[in-house]
Amino acid sequence: MNIINTSLVFIFTFLIAQLSFASSCSVDLEGNNMMQFSSTSIQIDSSCSKFTIKFKNTSNLDKEIAGHNVVVSKSSDFDELTNLVDPSNGMNEGFLPSNSKVIAKTPFLGPNESYDLVIDVSRLNSGDNYVFWCSFPGHWGIMKGDLNL
Ligand code: CO
Repeated sequence: MNIINTSLVFIFTFLIAQLSFASSCSVDLEGNNMMQFSSTSIQIDSSCSKFTIKFKNTSNLDKEIAGHNVVVSKSSDFDELTNLVDPSNGMNEGFLPSNSKVIAKTPFLGPNESYDLVIDVSRLNSGDNYVFWCSFPGHWGIMKGDLNL
């Protein structure tokens, strides 16, 4: 009986640990009508192997006029990457060419569209500073936040 009880406690503790682990490896993020993200800082726990930004565009503006997306890069690569933004690269690419300095990105989203952006945490170093930003022309001056491991 004691062995069964001990086993049940162990299994229960394990399940709770798994649940809390899962909940800490994702965050909800919205982009709104005012060209703002709902958060300006994202902290990733180093125990996460993958981290998901659950992004939703709550604006009512068509994505061709003012789409929102999420791009993750090092802070130090931000200027170089924003200079590469060109609509000829397409909405699904966030107007960005293929570039190894882009750690993760979503397509541009229109009103009420959402996208789960999965970040490979092994690409992040705890000593570096990262940013998440919207690569729609004119947006990243305001739509930008810090992301750290
Ligand atoms: Co935007």
